Amino acid sequence: MPRHSNMVNLLFVGALVLTLFGSSVEGLGVNWGTKSSHQLPPETVVQMLKDNGLKKVKLFDADPYVLNALADTDIEVMVGVKNSELEAVSQKNNAKKWVDDNVAKYVENKVRITSVAVGNEPFLVDYKDKYINSTLPALMSIQKALDDAKLGDRIKASVPFNGDIYMSPPWRPLPSAGLFRPEVSDEVEDIADFLAKNNAPFIINIFPFFSLVMGDSGFPVDYAFFDGADGIQDGNIEYTNVFDASFDTCVSALKQIGHANMTIVIGEIGWPTDGNKWANSSLASKFYNGFLPRVTNNKGTPLYPGYIEVYLFGLVDEDAKNIAPGNFERHWGIFDYAGQPKFNTSLDAKDKNKKLVGAKNVTFQSKKWCILRSDVPHDKQKLNETMDYACEHADCSAFADGGSCSGLGECEMASYAFNSFFQMSNQSKESCDFDGLATQVDQDPSKDQCKFNIQIKPNGHEHIDSDSPAPSPFSFSSSHLTGVPSIALIGLALLVMTSLFFF
Ligand SMILES: *[C@@H]1O[C@H](CO)[C@@H](O)[C@H](O)[C@H]1NC(C)=O
Ligand SMILES: *[C@@H]1O[C@H](CO)[C@@H](O)[C@H](O)[C@H]1NC(C)=O
Ligand SMILES: *[C@@H]1O[C@H](CO)[C@@H](O)[C@H](O)[C@H]1NC(C)=O
Ligand SMILES: *[C@@H]1O[C@H](CO)[C@@H](O)[C@H](O)[C@H]1NC(C)=O
Ligand SMILES: *[C@@H]1O[C@H](CO)[C@@H](O)[C@H](O)[C@H]1NC(C)=O
Ligand SMILES: *[C@@H]1O[C@H](CO)[C@@H](O)[C@H](O)[C@H]1NC(C)=O
Ligand SMILES: *[C@@H]1O[C@H](CO)[C@@H](O)[C@H](O)[C@H]1NC(C)=O
Repeated sequence: MPRHSNMVNLLFVGALVLTLFGSSVEGLGVNWGTKSSHQLPPETVVQMLKDNGLKKVKLFDADPYVLNALADTDIEVMVGVKNSELEAVSQKNNAKKWVDDNVAKYVENKVRITSVAVGNEPFLVDYKDKYINSTLPALMSIQKALDDAKLGDRIKASVPFNGDIYMSPPWRPLPSAGLFRPEVSDEVEDIADFLAKNNAPFIINIFPFFSLVMGDSGFPVDYAFFDGADGIQDGNIEYTNVFDASFDTCVSALKQIGHANMTIVIGEIGWPTDGNKWANSSLASKFYNGFLPRVTNNKGTPLYPGYIEVYLFGLVDEDAKNIAPGNFERHWGIFDYAGQPKFNTSLDAKDKNKKLVGAKNVTFQSKKWCILRSDVPHDKQKLNETMDYACEHADCSAFADGGSCSGLGECEMASYAFNSFFQMSNQSKESCDFDGLATQVDQDPSKDQCKFNIQIKPNGHEHIDSDSPAPSPFSFSSSHLTGVPSIALIGLALLVMTSLFFF
């Protein structure tokens, strides 16, 4: 492209300058999670990122299969230390090895790693104090290892926190009164001090969806979106959506501990499309169509105007995620499991009509389904047992109240469960038997919005890796359990908004 060489040179110099100063390009990012029974080939995903102008990607680990596909692209990458690794990498030698194996090696291979997420929401209320003492030491050792490898000025370590680390006090439920939750405030303050000293950003995940799910008691629906709800007055500022209010509560909390000017990154934000009555593609597109223009136009929030680095959650649906937090957990993708868009929204500030571009070249398994036989008798108990078995090993999250398959009759539900199991098992003959109750068909049994999916072809890299789950009573391996997952939390998070509202 000789005609563009000046432009290219300019861009190159620009990139170099940015690299030297350790900042990064503006643009939207996305979380690429891989807890799926069948993964799209990483090359396909990388093409999708490019086709959609997504400039940054956040990973929950450092899988070579994924990282190698990001080599020789301009896409900026955040790799992740898992919560289960925090304790180990607190030690200097382990941190060095982690950085050598998961960062330095790929930087040499031209993967544009710009940050390391140390843990994922380690101070989540439901984890109690499990990671409270290992997070800062892990952060420090990882940054030290990056510095020692001479990568420290362009690769920053930080910690993605859940929005439940900050709150507004009940006696002054306003964003401007934001402070960190007392049980973690000392640790968060030490971490913020370290990040500031190191010029690294503060990362938080924000999920307005949870305000609706948890706030059934009467959270004002409009306040989760951006179409202008009745506002909350906070000094001169009127807050008309929970996103601005939540983000600014964090800004205020940071200011309170002396970090008024800290860069804040949104590590996760999004809206699921199934598995809950508040999760469908029309509400998701309502959310994104309100949220995206604000960030792509660098509007920011009342207390934080301008560019905010944002990672959408998430890229594709993940049918093997832990559903302890709710059935919606498997439906956070802006694309479905096969990389196809679920709704029309534009990720492009300049072109409001630009649509999401789906994955190209996806290869599916054969056009066949597995359903309940209508010609053999079945008793209720046996049907129940086989269905439970299928659902436990496959994915029936769409059965949830308000989910896309919540309207099925009992026999149709059995068919759905059998089919899900059959597809996940690569359509093997044995997987469509269920004690003689099941049979294969070549007519699509989908009904209304309830889709009987055909899985994509396995590519031999089915690693349903997960962070080692937290011990009972909660076993959240979910990295994306965010927002306000417990009753205790609802109290905290909603205090900010609802008490105000109904004052
Ligand atoms: C964390 O460290 C503090 C102070 O050393 C100690 O009192 C506390 O028990 C530790 N918590 C955990 C979960 O290890
Ligand atoms: C934040 O930045 C502003 C403008 O650059 C400056 O006036 C102010 O002193 C800074 N505050 C802190 C706490 O660093
Ligand atoms: C999406 O969910 C909302 C709230 O439950 C409901 O009012 C609306 O009808 C749903 N839309 C679709 C297309 O299912
Ligand atoms: C997006 O819009 C186009 C028409 O503009 C339509 O054909 C397509 O079905 C829509 N896609 C989704 C996922 O709604
Ligand atoms: C599509 O698949 C074919 C055959 O596997 C491959 O040769 C081609 O490069 C792929 N194209 C893209 C855009 O991935
Ligand atoms: C099977 O029966 C049990 C106990 O009645 C019930 O909890 C479960 O939801 C049933 N399973 C299905 C798939 O309907
Ligand atoms: C599906 O096929 C892939 C690739 O051969 C394999 O790794 C995976 O274990 C298979 N899954 C099941 C459930 O058999």
